[in-house]
Amino acid sequence: MEILKKKIIRLGAMSLVIFSCSAPKAEQALHFHEAFADKFFIGTALNTAQIAGGDTVSMAVVRQHFNAIVPENCMKSENIQPHEGVFDFELPDKFVAFGEANNMHINGHTLIWHSQTPRWFFVDSLKNDVSREVMIQRMRDHIFTVVGRYKGRVHTWDVVNEAVMDDGTLRPSKFLEIIGEDYLQLAFQFANEADPEAKLYYNDYSMAIPAKREGVVNMVKNLQAAGVQIDGIGMQGHVGLESPSLEEFEKSIVAFSDLGVKVLITEWDMTVLPSPWENTGADIANRFVYRPEMDPYRAGLPADVAAQFNERALGFFKLFVKYQDQIDRVTFWGVNDAQSWKNDWPIKGRMDYTLLFDRNNQPKDVVYEIVALGSKK
Ligand code: XIL
Repeated sequence: MEILKKKIIRLGAMSLVIFSCSAPKAEQALHFHEAFADKFFIGTALNTAQIAGGDTVSMAVVRQHFNAIVPENCMKSENIQPHEGVFDFELPDKFVAFGEANNMHINGHTLIWHSQTPRWFFVDSLKNDVSREVMIQRMRDHIFTVVGRYKGRVHTWDVVNEAVMDDGTLRPSKFLEIIGEDYLQLAFQFANEADPEAKLYYNDYSMAIPAKREGVVNMVKNLQAAGVQIDGIGMQGHVGLESPSLEEFEKSIVAFSDLGVKVLITEWDMTVLPSPWENTGADIANRFVYRPEMDPYRAGLPADVAAQFNERALGFFKLFVKYQDQIDRVTFWGVNDAQSWKNDWPIKGRMDYTLLFDRNNQPKDVVYEIVALGSKK
């Protein structure tokens, strides 16, 4: 919020009116990440426009308030290796350079994922599934080329994304189908070989569901038993106003850190819109048809819903602060409400209010409360 100050300077008979902009003291001093400097990184995802330089306004917010970044899409395999052996590093290079220039923690997202992986990855020239050997080789080439390029520069990697179903079983992805269960182990091994210094993470959504929590714990235990380096578990944190409960979320933080790995909150956002389905997950393959009644806040967010959002966001942060020794980073999936992927998923074209900065890049009231919480010694 900028206050327009009017100064009237009198010069004899002449009066000069000078307008100057100045922000109130509290806001001038507000640097979200600094309040958490002794606890965990405060991160945000960067989209294509931001990385390419087409959105300087929100990038100013990024520099002021965040000290960690993750690419929203440009490092996913469909973008970084759209055709076999053809890599596009233009945006990823810019993304990494921005992080380095601003002294930020840089997380790479993501190496092995069932979504946003190009079709060629799994098939031969006749469009038949490739053999286990070819699939392993492709996985190895992909990981070595991408991780290798940013060796020593990308600090942490989401090596495998979303390999576990809500019931705790392994997702029947092409990786599992063609390679078998050890694709998980191989992915982590390749990433470790490509950059032995990088910290390696498993990342997933709906991690507060008890069966999924258990499935992830078992999977990570198996990886650890196989001698694989795994440094952390990312809880995406695409949450709603009602679910998941903070209690179940907390149980997962505890269960994961009990494995001796770090916990990361990797993609936090909170939808305020009605859900078209029972499920509150984030499988991007699920989509629903637009209906106006599913998009109730086009004219603005009612005060009571905004208050609910603020209270729950603060509740999540209280939890994160409680587990500051276990949590290394809290990252938001975008900077401001206008950019949030939730405007287009699971229903395209809605108006959601999921993040901590509004459509004008202004911090919501709760940011001041969160910063006060983080600043407490
Ligand atoms: C989303 C992006 O935000 C969208 O722009 C894209 O169209 C689909 O993917 N889990 C993840 C993220 O790990 O990569 C997804 O990002 C959201 C769910």
